[in-house]
Amino acid sequence: MPNASFRLDPAFTIAPVSRRTFGSFVEHMGRCVYTGIYEPTHATADADGFRQDVLALTRELGVSTVRYPGGNFVSGYRWEDGIGPVADRPVRRDLAWHSLETNEVGIDEFMRWAGKAGVEVMYALNLGTRGVAEALDVQEYLNHPDRTRLAELRRSHGADKPYGISMFCLGNELDGPWQTGHKTAYEYGRLAAETARAMRAAEPDLELVACGSSSSSMPTFAAWESEVLELTYDQVDYISAHAYYEPFDGDIGSFLASAVDMDHFINSVVATADSIGAKLKSRKRLKISFDEWNVWYQTRFQATRETEWQVAPRVIEDSYNVTDAVVVGSLLISLLRHSDRVTAACQAQLVNVIAPIRTEPGGPAWRQTIFHPFAITSRLAKGAVLRVEPDSPVYATERYGDVPVVDAVATHDPDSGDVTIFAVNRSQDSATDLTVSLAGFGGALRVAESWTVHDDDPNATNTATDPDRVTAVPLSPASLSSASLSSASVADGELRVSLAPVSWTAIRLTPGE
Ligand code: AHR
Repeated sequence: MPNASFRLDPAFTIAPVSRRTFGSFVEHMGRCVYTGIYEPTHATADADGFRQDVLALTRELGVSTVRYPGGNFVSGYRWEDGIGPVADRPVRRDLAWHSLETNEVGIDEFMRWAGKAGVEVMYALNLGTRGVAEALDVQEYLNHPDRTRLAELRRSHGADKPYGISMFCLGNELDGPWQTGHKTAYEYGRLAAETARAMRAAEPDLELVACGSSSSSMPTFAAWESEVLELTYDQVDYISAHAYYEPFDGDIGSFLASAVDMDHFINSVVATADSIGAKLKSRKRLKISFDEWNVWYQTRFQATRETEWQVAPRVIEDSYNVTDAVVVGSLLISLLRHSDRVTAACQAQLVNVIAPIRTEPGGPAWRQTIFHPFAITSRLAKGAVLRVEPDSPVYATERYGDVPVVDAVATHDPDSGDVTIFAVNRSQDSATDLTVSLAGFGGALRVAESWTVHDDDPNATNTATDPDRVTAVPLSPASLSSASLSSASVADGELRVSLAPVSWTAIRLTPGE
């Protein structure tokens, strides 16, 4: 059996785990909002019309931050349509997704939902069809305490206290020709800089995100970041990154290696941002908000795009299999590994639309396969991210050349002493033995819990009628050997684990015999 190994040491840290790494995304798109989080006629709906089954799953997923209200949708959105008496709200065309927006859910409803879900809101501004004035208006409505027209309007709608949003996205994917109000880097950079400057005049400590490229395969990638950041560097804290992965022509080997691409993408954005910092003689270091990432079978979507104007049509309701879950787990490993620069990330999206949670109108809500690595990583990644350099066999891929079979990251919580290892085995052929040396830890460690996502059928999915076909299960004692950890001297301690083919695994070690 192939072998991989690495050594962990609490002295070699990358950065603290940022809770915002476990963000998600709610866009007014398809059935994410309507019949996703909100369905007043549903049996589980609360007094505000929110599905409590979805709220419970959102909490279980361990979501920290939710980006709202789009996405491509936001670039044509008028936030004022979604406030005040629902009966007076207009129905509008959503040009991004060719559907009708009823505006039954707007800012105040969403903030109530976020309170119930226990999540922070990252608010995305419309810099497609709108500009500085409208950004200032929505900021005033959200964050100004009282006495101004829009603060008093919010209060009259029942929100006495300001919402205190601290993180705003300055638009969405404005490099993309599909975006309503698409712009050149210069046009966007100037608008983003002036919007940021104006918003900071009211609240200097806001955390502002400039739009990076909508993917690293855009022809303008890196040139867009350079020009935008030259214009905005002093005004923003983050540059965004978006990436979606899927297998092309059945090439599962490359698909399983998607995190190699994410690593390269992050490194490229960091290099570009730092080069602008150097050029501007600035000591400030920008962070990355990876505010859209996931597996998305985009090629299927292009073939099935809706043409009728409908309210909440079924759009990109991808059904995820075991391989997709392993890829999602590996993308989380990549995000954690870059915690020194990536301090916010949003899996796109939360419900129904390329999402870990699925619902049926009037029916059940269930966990897709990709729910499990996200929920477990969010729950177990605590403290500091440790530097991991796996020594692993490699396999050949079409897209990325030779790729390590095993990828991994680890966290160490100095308060509890817990060490958690997250690992994937990308081999489609065989299990791989992983040995982790814990020589740097000064006391005995024992396995407190272990979870793996694997199935003999890597195409297995969860459905409304078989919602738990694929779950995370504890590793069997046969695949986990920790006997040496309970020896008196942890300096010689090793964790040995057998990783099944195409699997994602998390193991939490805790101090004790
Ligand atoms: O998440 C789906 C879409 O993907 C978003 O609306 C857009 O920003 C991205 O292209």
